[in-house]
Amino acid sequence: MHTEILSPDQRGYAQAAKILQAGGLVSFPTETVYGLGADARQDKAVARIFEAKNRPTFNPLIVHVADVSATKRYVVWNDLAERLSGTFWPGPLTLVLPLRSDSGLSHLVTADLPTLAIRVPANPVARALLKAFDGPVAAPSANPSGKISPTQATHVINGLSGRIEAVLDGGSCDVGVESTILGAFGKPTLLRPGGLPQEALEQALGQGLEARQDADPLTAPGQMLSHYAPGAAVRLNATEIRNEERLLGFGDVKNAALNLSASGDLVEAAANLFGHLHALDAAGDSPIAVSPIPNTGLGRAINDRLKRAAAPRDI
Ligand code: TXA
Ligand code: MG
Repeated sequence: MHTEILSPDQRGYAQAAKILQAGGLVSFPTETVYGLGADARQDKAVARIFEAKNRPTFNPLIVHVADVSATKRYVVWNDLAERLSGTFWPGPLTLVLPLRSDSGLSHLVTADLPTLAIRVPANPVARALLKAFDGPVAAPSANPSGKISPTQATHVINGLSGRIEAVLDGGSCDVGVESTILGAFGKPTLLRPGGLPQEALEQALGQGLEARQDADPLTAPGQMLSHYAPGAAVRLNATEIRNEERLLGFGDVKNAALNLSASGDLVEAAANLFGHLHALDAAGDSPIAVSPIPNTGLGRAINDRLKRAAAPRDI
């Protein structure tokens, strides 16, 4: 794949929006770091983010929108969010709020959590792109997993060239560290320190912030064993169907109740993972057997999630 470098002008924004609509990946500058964007409503587009970054887990992603009114389509709004957004948006603050049941977002964006991290970036290039696209853009930082976050288009090219459709070149990022993430329902809780100082938040709210707790489900969604577990028992690496089991297949297998990807495509399998687990969960409680998934590329993230789904349940 050739990675296009787009200029921050009307033609560049239109082209970037077109790529996003078609399910492609566009890196764009925000005031914090460059993001790797995809249409947050398209499972396959979001799955490709994890593939391009070579991320071994499906961490939940931040959704970027053009303005405050757009956020209300995706999250349940409250007074705290109203105050904080009035003071700090657009800017380097991400709010975690309850996900609306009619959000229409891919399960992969939230890693199937009932909450959503959302922000309105201030960078003019990001804003112009979000306006041209007119939809929710899921974007982690645009670096290969485990590498340093990019603050210039050349950093993105060095890390991801050939793996994504385009980079919008908007020069250097002003802030240079990721956004501050705040749990904004119940007590305001600092989930990640970042580009907006904690003191600024505390001053605006007239109160201290709760610290993140290790046991807090908001803090470490990926580590929660039970969250990903369907009601039924799950058996991995199944090469045959036993007794009452229902097979969640991968590749060319017979008698699958559902198949993550009949053609053995890991991007398609990742896009289908949470949806298929939900569907099997809703359809009954007989055990689920899962075909072996190759442990390469997105297969590692899929296996990470499946291992959690299959883990023994203490409670
Ligand atoms: O500045 C930023 O925030 C950049 C730019 C591109 O916007 N984005 C960014 O995304 O840093 P990422 O994927 O590298 O970090 C997202 C963080 C993760 O640590 C994730 O666990 C947390 O946000 N997160 C996302 N959704 C969450 C949720 N529902 N609850 C708690 N944490 C969440
Ligand atoms: Mg990152």
